[in-house]
Amino acid sequence: MDTIRLYWKNATAAAIGDAHGVADKDLKALAPQIKSITRLLSDDRKAGKLRYRDLPFDDDVTDAIHRQVEHFRDRCDVLVVLGIGGSALGARALHESLNPYTYNLLSDRTRPGPQVFVVDNVDPDQIKSLLELVTAKAKKTIVNVVSKSGETVETAAGFFLFRDLLQSKLGKKYNENVIATTDPETGALRQLARQEGYRTLDVPSGVPGRFAILSAVGLFSAAITGIDVDAIMAGAREMDKRVKDADLFANPAAMIAAIHYLLLQKGKPISVLMPYSTSLYAFGDWYGQLVAESLGKQHGLKRKDVHTGITPIKALGATDQHSQVQLYREGPNDKLITMVEVERFGSKIAIPAGLKSIPSLAFTAGSNLQTLINAEKLATEHALLVSQRPTMSLMLPQISPETVGQFIYLYETAVSYLAALLEIDAYNTPAVELGKAGTAALMGRDGLADLNKAMQASVVKRDLKFLV
Ligand code: PA5
Repeated sequence: MDTIRLYWKNATAAAIGDAHGVADKDLKALAPQIKSITRLLSDDRKAGKLRYRDLPFDDDVTDAIHRQVEHFRDRCDVLVVLGIGGSALGARALHESLNPYTYNLLSDRTRPGPQVFVVDNVDPDQIKSLLELVTAKAKKTIVNVVSKSGETVETAAGFFLFRDLLQSKLGKKYNENVIATTDPETGALRQLARQEGYRTLDVPSGVPGRFAILSAVGLFSAAITGIDVDAIMAGAREMDKRVKDADLFANPAAMIAAIHYLLLQKGKPISVLMPYSTSLYAFGDWYGQLVAESLGKQHGLKRKDVHTGITPIKALGATDQHSQVQLYREGPNDKLITMVEVERFGSKIAIPAGLKSIPSLAFTAGSNLQTLINAEKLATEHALLVSQRPTMSLMLPQISPETVGQFIYLYETAVSYLAALLEIDAYNTPAVELGKAGTAALMGRDGLADLNKAMQASVVKRDLKFLV
């Protein structure tokens, strides 16, 4: 199997100097701690506390997906996936990375599966335009509602809109066009699925949303479009062998964590993920959630009020060389930039000879786009190094289900290592609750009058003095 590699020299003091790079002695000093964390993660896994790590080894997960894909494939031209956060970003990232750019525009005859729309917001304009599209195709539209809790307002609102549409077009049998991915036992969605007779898939217990991409949450919509989900899982299993290694210098997840951790101490709390591949761009959102929601915490496991975290930024090479790289080279030196390099693209496209007619660009004629995009990546890596900005390169031999599976598992495990180094709980999300409650309070939920009152004073009633 092609294996992905991490090149980390350009984050070191040897490459960019002591002020901004990671010192060899600091890495060596961290190595024993990495060894104990590896042991701890292994113990936690054995105790069932890191259930996400076992998903690629669980045949029940993929068997259930294959059964449902078998059932739905021929009766589905449009798949609407409704979810939010961890219940949506993985599905979108897999679809965008492993299906062609124009996949949704292919005809029903040539596309290997249904058109896919991942709806992860309650934007009325977005939902209206999709409802209109689906109205004409209701019979061959499948709605995959994804919610672990089954009680997320955005997902529920979207789902009931699509459910009502299906019901109005298909009557009682609308339930045959719904598949619910939710907690195996509990929650309002599981209850509704039982009541209405929906087909279901499980969000395995003990797997938080942002670690659930390698379950039905991310894989059902991928599989129905023909993506080889078994190969994704094989890639993840391959990576598991590497990220179990207690030696920091042999374990890419531990190295990603160690470098982020040491650079955090050097005033670099920002982590940019910059793939030189448009297909991988959507993984920036998945990565952003994984890093932000898992590591941004007020309280530590041992100390209160640690207020730690890493701020993720999504960038795209070469596109953002024409926007963000200006900041990255000359702005505050507060970022670690991980560039993703694809060694072999699926397509080889020659640069047209016509470029010879533009003297300043004639040097490119006769070359190809792969050489150009990779030269841009190396040039930016060099430019950042000259400016003493730390970078790492993640090298993918090609974009395939196997390498994407490795990528996912690598970063999930790196976040577990980082959480252990930062001594925080990566798997909870206490800070998102107040926003949820505030929404409910404003919309009249019982028992939240005090919160409503506080919000009237703080944000609802505008102080005109501050309005320009
Ligand atoms: O990672 C998480 O836990 C969250 O982003 C959830 O995935 C998100 O809030 C959606 O929750 P649910 O699947 O319960 O609807």
